[in-house]
Parts: sequence; C-alpha cells; structure tokens
Amino acid sequence: MKETTAASPFTLHNKNVTFKNRFVKSAMSEGLATKVHLPDADIFRLYHTWAKGGAGLLITGNVMINQQALGEPGNVVLESEKQLGLFRAWARAGTHNDTHLWMQINHPGKQVPKGVAREAVAPSAVPFESGIQRFFPHARALTHPEIEKIIRQFAHTASLARRAGFTGVQIHAAHGYLISQFLSPRHNQRTDEWGGSIKNRFRFLREIFNAVREAAGPEFPVGVKINSADFMKAGFSEEESQYVIKELERLGVDMIEISGGTYERPELFGKNASASTLKREAYFLEYAESLKQTTEVPVILTGGFRTRPAMDSALQSGAADFIGLARPMAVYPDYPDRLLSEAPVPRIAPVKTGLPFIDNLGIMELAWYNQQLARLSKGRKAAPGFPPVFSLALLLMKNGINVIRQRRG
Ligand SMILES: Cc1cc2nc3c(=O)[nH]c(=O)nc-3n(C[C@H](O)[C@H](O)[C@H](O)COP(=O)(O)O)c2cc1C
Repeated sequence: MKETTAASPFTLHNKNVTFKNRFVKSAMSEGLATKVHLPDADIFRLYHTWAKGGAGLLITGNVMINQQALGEPGNVVLESEKQLGLFRAWARAGTHNDTHLWMQINHPGKQVPKGVAREAVAPSAVPFESGIQRFFPHARALTHPEIEKIIRQFAHTASLARRAGFTGVQIHAAHGYLISQFLSPRHNQRTDEWGGSIKNRFRFLREIFNAVREAAGPEFPVGVKINSADFMKAGFSEEESQYVIKELERLGVDMIEISGGTYERPELFGKNASASTLKREAYFLEYAESLKQTTEVPVILTGGFRTRPAMDSALQSGAADFIGLARPMAVYPDYPDRLLSEAPVPRIAPVKTGLPFIDNLGIMELAWYNQQLARLSKGRKAAPGFPPVFSLALLLMKNGINVIRQRRG
C-alpha cells in the first residue's frame, strides 16, 4: 500500500466527500468585513487566491452568528438570508480548483475588546486574569433563554452557509470563545444543567452540534475546532478534551481540529512551547498522538507546522489526518503548492519587536498577519520583511497606547 503523505487524497466515506490532499488552511479572522459586517470583493479575492494555492480545504476566519456578538470590528456576520448573494460570491471564489470551503461559525462570549461591543456575556460572570480584564467589559452570565437562543442562532447560520454554497461548517469551540468558556471549569461556574460536571459543561456544545446537524442536514459536513487544553490553572484539561471529542464522535462529528490556548494563554501561537516541541514543529502533536489511540474521527492538527518532513511524519504516525496551516498561508498563499512540489519553503521570521512584554502577547501575531491578509486581499504580494515594530506602530495609531499598557500586566 502507498504510504500516506500530505499529497494523499482523503475521503469522508459517510458523506461521499473527497479532499484532494491533506492541507487545510486554518481559520484566520480576516478583519476585512464592510462596516455592516458583510464580505466584499476583498474577501472574495483573498479566497480566490487561497483556492488557487493548492489546499484541499479552506476554513474561513470566524463568522459571527449575530451582529450583537462581535469579537473584532472587521468580523463577518451571517444571520439573515437577505445577504446570501454576497456569501454565494464568497463560496464561489473559495471553491474553484477543486477546493472545499468550510465556514467557521463563532460567538466570542466575553472575548470582546472594549469598544467592539457594549456588553460581554459568558457562562458565568468570571473576570479574566488581572491585567487582561481592563481590556474587556465585565462579563455577565447568560440566562437560560439566552443560551437557547444562541444555540438556535448557530444552527441558523450553519443552514445559511449551506444554502450559500459553503461545503461544510466548523463550530469554533477553541481559543477561549463562548463555547470554550462553557467547557472550562474556570470560566463556567454555573450550578444549573449548563455547569458543574464535564457532562454538563459539554451540554452547550452538544446542543449546538445537534441543532447545526439538524438544520444543515445529515449530508453536510460539520467539524469542531477544540482545544487540547486551555493551559490555565483549574481550566479545561486534556482528559476533558478527549472526553468531549469521544462524545462528539458518538454524535457524528465529521472532523475535529486540534489547537490550544486562549487570549489569556496564547499557546495557539506556540508561546511557551518547549524546545523539543518546536523541533517537531506541531505544538499539540503529543496530545494528538494520545487522542488518536482512542478515536477514529478525522483530525486536523494545527499550530506550528512548516515543513513537509514534519507534516508527513505526523500523518504517517497516525497522529493527524490533515495538516492545519494558518500563518504561512498569510504570507505565501500557495504554501500547499510549494510543499507539494517539494520546493524548499522560505522561512518566515518570528514576529518580534524586541520588547519581550509585547512579544509574548498574541496581539502582535494577529496585527502583523492581519496586515499581510489585507495586502493579499488587494491582489498585492505579502511583505514578509515588514518590520514588526511598524506593525506595532500601526496598531498603536489605530487603537492607542492603551492596547499595550492594558495588556502588559
Ligand atoms: C491573523 C490570525 C487570525 C486568526 N483567526 C482565527 C479564527 O478566526 N479562528 C480560529 O479558530 N483561529 C484563528 N487563528 C489561529 C489559527 O487558526 C491557528 O490556530 C494558529 O495561527 C496556529 O497555526 P499556525 O502555526 O499554522 O499559524 C488566527 C491566527 C491568526 C494569525
């Protein structure tokens, strides 16, 4: 039998869906929506470029399920069928060249910076760690009817995505957003049926998954992005993560994407990864290896992958079925094609200003890479040599010195 490599196709047998290779462009919030939170020509151009670049599956940046719950000013929102024409154009742009395009759907919960939304909601009114909290409004706990409404909104957005021509959806349950807050015993301190045991903390995601499946239909691929852990004291653990994935498998999830961390712990960008982890590139490889001992569900492993040998080795060991790539795709949108042709891939320098208290924050990664996405969306080439200190200057000009000051603690 031929050995599995990143070039091997993959079929979801129960869905009759085939991906031409194992490269997945992971979600990157584009920050490019219009003032009324819709996609336009810039986003279409960006996805056309990515589809041309060779990945088997593109996952969109998080699309919010409701206009009142934005994570960032430039978020796309899909909540009404009136806007479907624009989403159809997006779907067309991202599915040429035999490419799949899944929409990532999200609710930010309390991860809404001040100035973006009037209030922040969460499972419980638990503040962020000191230092970070000053950057966000204080969260209030959701009521039971509000929770039910959010579940329906996830389902509605998924059914609209399907009607628009997206070939799947991914529910965002990672990185400290609302679903991830429900899963975490630190952030979810409810005493009703939505909190307490992991079974209860999983209830919100379970209900969302079931509602999405029902609204989008049995043939439509539904994936979930989830943390291996959130790396916080008394937070969501690897054991709990494995429990949730087993449950989702039982419910019929089509694909799991593994990441980790939150705004408080930006481990998704490899912050604090050990030298031995960095050598194997993928930040969550060990977790994926252990997960795959207990589950058959197809896994996208995301975070840190850069070279073909590391990718092929993760695929051949069975730790992953797909390789998730985010930051490289913002600089070289044809990264998959480059890897497939086995051309050497350029090394992307780490985003470092030289100021350690800034460099340890996720915000610099987001700022620098968002600037690259903005260039691609205008049909320009990315600028890998763009100095991160200039990104910092642009960030400060846009948001003021408080962005840094407030996050410093
Ligand atoms: C600019 C930017 C925006 C991101 N937005 C999202 C997002 O909307 N949803 C998500 O799940 N992850 C998001 N991520 C995280 C990536 O999907 C990925 O997990 C992370 O960058 C690690 O993968 P990499 O090493 O290949 O970049 C974002 C990352 C960047 C750089």
